[in-house]
Amino acid sequence: MNTKHVTMTMEDLRSPQMQEACEILQQGGLVAFPTETVYGLGGDALNPDSSRKIYGAKGRPSDNPLIVHIADMESLPRVASHISEKAMTLARTFWPGPMTLIFDKQPEVPLETTGGLETVAVRMPSHPIAQELIRQSGVYVAAPSANASGRPSPTRASHVAEDLDGRIDMIIDGDSLKDTSIGLESTIVDMTVEPPMILRPGYITREMLEGAVGTVEVDPAIENRTRTGNRVAKAPGMKYRHYAPKGQMTIVEGPQEKVVDTINDLVREKKALGCKVAVIATSETAGLYQCELVRCAGSRQVKGSIAAGLYDILREMDHLGAEFIFAESFQDDALGTAIMNRMIKAAGYHLIQV
Ligand code: TXA
Ligand code: MG
Repeated sequence: MNTKHVTMTMEDLRSPQMQEACEILQQGGLVAFPTETVYGLGGDALNPDSSRKIYGAKGRPSDNPLIVHIADMESLPRVASHISEKAMTLARTFWPGPMTLIFDKQPEVPLETTGGLETVAVRMPSHPIAQELIRQSGVYVAAPSANASGRPSPTRASHVAEDLDGRIDMIIDGDSLKDTSIGLESTIVDMTVEPPMILRPGYITREMLEGAVGTVEVDPAIENRTRTGNRVAKAPGMKYRHYAPKGQMTIVEGPQEKVVDTINDLVREKKALGCKVAVIATSETAGLYQCELVRCAGSRQVKGSIAAGLYDILREMDHLGAEFIFAESFQDDALGTAIMNRMIKAAGYHLIQV
């Protein structure tokens, strides 16, 4: 398949290119598009063939359900049922934005889209290209992250092309509208249980959700710090190996000085064996490492900068051919919870306490 690459700015929201993207969706094809979290791989959520194509293009296990993206509140009851007052409050407070809610599904949503579940995940994105694509196509857009299954989610159009070029109909490059980009996937909240439960941490934190609707629980599996962490995640996608660079990644956790010393020791050890080694540091510590390949994830003072840069750095590790990767850890609070959740998976649960 020949994948069409188009670049869009704010001026292109009503362009012939947008028109073409809408037609692809209407005809059951696949379009990768930017959102405020990561790039999504979109297809018609009500068309079982489109959903099958999405699984095929990503190489994704078909029991891992897709998120249905909508552009207005009127669309919500068309795909979801039993929408509680709390769900309405969360939707009004955090949509459009990086939050996904789980509901009982409407019969019109095929099981192909929901990975065989009777529930459906719904999100209203705030990115203008995503919004216009949904609105102008009139399609409810099923969209997982636009990466090959198992790889880090794409935060740039080039990441999408790396994984899916030749496998989908179109890639919309919206990198120029990136200034609002969060870089981690949406917070998923299960609204079919009471109290609501976070199934995947993200930019919208537990504290923010609780501020709107009171008690919110967290799927205990999110706190797993070991692979055999005994608890099975309730979001099917959270159980898969994910976000992983090809090299072996290890996170070192502890007081900053000890972390730096330990990572320097480990780097020396691996280099002595002739291995290619890289370090994922922060701007506060980057200068302290004796390693040729140090990548700075961002500043500890600005957690958002680390979230925004993380997946790009994980992909860069592959380009650099890093065989061993040592990373600092982040405090497990607020946005740090989401960052650590992704990093621990990327590291395949290799975590050293010092
Ligand atoms: O920010 C995002 O959410 C991005 C952008 C493109 O919107 N999308 C995204 O989709 O991250 P994906 O497919 O990579 O992750 C969807 C997650 C998976 O872990 C999946 O198992 C879970 O949502 N999920 C979807 N439907 C579900 C359901 N009915 N019940 C429980 N978990 C569900
Ligand atoms: Mg994904």
